[in-house]
Amino acid sequence: MTQSQRRLGNMPAGIDALAFACPKAYIDLEDLAHARGVDPAKFTQGLGQRKMAIASPVEDTVTMAVDAGQQALKVFDIDPESIGTLIVGTETGIDHSKPVAVYVHELLGLSQRCRTFETKHACYGASAGLTASLDWIGSGRARGKKALVIASDIANYGLNTPGEPTQGAGAVAMVVSDRPRLLAIEPTTMGDYTRQVMDFWRPLYSKYAIADGHYSIECYLDALTGAREAALEQSGEVYGSIIACLYHVPFVKMAKKAHHRELECVLDRSLDLQSPNDLALFNESFDRMAAPWLDLNADVGNIYTGSLYLSLMDLLRQGHETHANQRLSLFSYGSGCCATYCLGTVAETAHQFAQLIDPQSMLDQRRRLNVSEYEEMIVASENAPSQTSLKPQDYGVHSGLSYVGTVDHQRRYVFM
Ligand code: HMG
Repeated sequence: MTQSQRRLGNMPAGIDALAFACPKAYIDLEDLAHARGVDPAKFTQGLGQRKMAIASPVEDTVTMAVDAGQQALKVFDIDPESIGTLIVGTETGIDHSKPVAVYVHELLGLSQRCRTFETKHACYGASAGLTASLDWIGSGRARGKKALVIASDIANYGLNTPGEPTQGAGAVAMVVSDRPRLLAIEPTTMGDYTRQVMDFWRPLYSKYAIADGHYSIECYLDALTGAREAALEQSGEVYGSIIACLYHVPFVKMAKKAHHRELECVLDRSLDLQSPNDLALFNESFDRMAAPWLDLNADVGNIYTGSLYLSLMDLLRQGHETHANQRLSLFSYGSGCCATYCLGTVAETAHQFAQLIDPQSMLDQRRRLNVSEYEEMIVASENAPSQTSLKPQDYGVHSGLSYVGTVDHQRRYVFM
């Protein structure tokens, strides 16, 4: 057995710990629809979304990443000294030069013998970090250490835009090790896809993402076909051997469109959802393999680079013992664009952590904003980088880490 196939039993390296953090406030999409004069069913059924996490001025990419990172280390009893690489994937960095990761490194109390960097490729950043960590472990350079990969983002398209109902904010932290207690990732059945497209981007001068929304959906689906073909080139079809298909979820309906495309790839023909037979075939497959793991995404919104892993958390929090040693697929898409399709195997121990990783009670305690509070929060957050003194209590934040203003061009953070 080579170093690159270092295993526990016959498990390759993968995700050993998982935790989620998000802002303490949200807006209900029915409220937003009423305010925008839109039929609420467009947001709830047409897009599949229920709620959207809204970051206050004192919550940013760093605070959410630290919150998620702390939980991952604590819940899974991981010594911070054992982290040899820290990668933060984000497209909502806080500095043109300094990575979010180096703030997170200090605030989590990680060792100075830790490599630290930020990855960016729209929603693909965390997957770039995850695959780099797997390669780092596989090469032997980790020497028994683990990697901490954190996806942290705030999606902001601006008020009254078509993208507005597809915003959100949150961070997912993953510890990657050669003894994964949650999900092993198959190193050989992995395929990538890259194409330069202008489907979604954010110029340096803009606070808002610019999206060619309908085109971005096409780009996503083309990337799914391409990455999937690349992944399965040698193994052949795997659909019959997997229990779940997990997707990048900018909004829940997108995962449904992705599953439609996935099934077309499997069947090697188009599926006509007007035909009762094809519709029944699709519904059975979607309801079994994709729909059950989309609830967290529906209640949080697009967290950009963490959204695939939020769906993974939804599956794992359900704690199905029958999932042990079963395979699933993961599709990561980042606009611009880059994508990876790969397969994972649920670890024997995964179900033991179901309750510990479930963020439901935290989500239930969030504060519901009315539309004018939401609009004020968005404007205040946009102005936050130039504020010198922010009071977390003013924004309903009473615990954890907060951004409290920028003094001498340096961002300040305080634990409460
Ligand atoms: P839109 O034009 O406002 O909406 O933009 P629409 O007219 O396409 O309607 C959306 C759906 O609602 C449609 O369903 C309608 O039929 C349905 P579909 O036909 O697609 O199945 N609908 C209704 N359903 C029930 N009752 C009604 C009703 N009315 C309409 N009354 C769009 C939607 C997603 C384009 C927009 O919100 C947007 O631009 N979002 C941002 C871009 C985005 O999320 N793209 C996704 C793919 S790219 C990606 O995933 C990468 C990304 O995460 C960024 C990154 O990588 O960093 C975005």
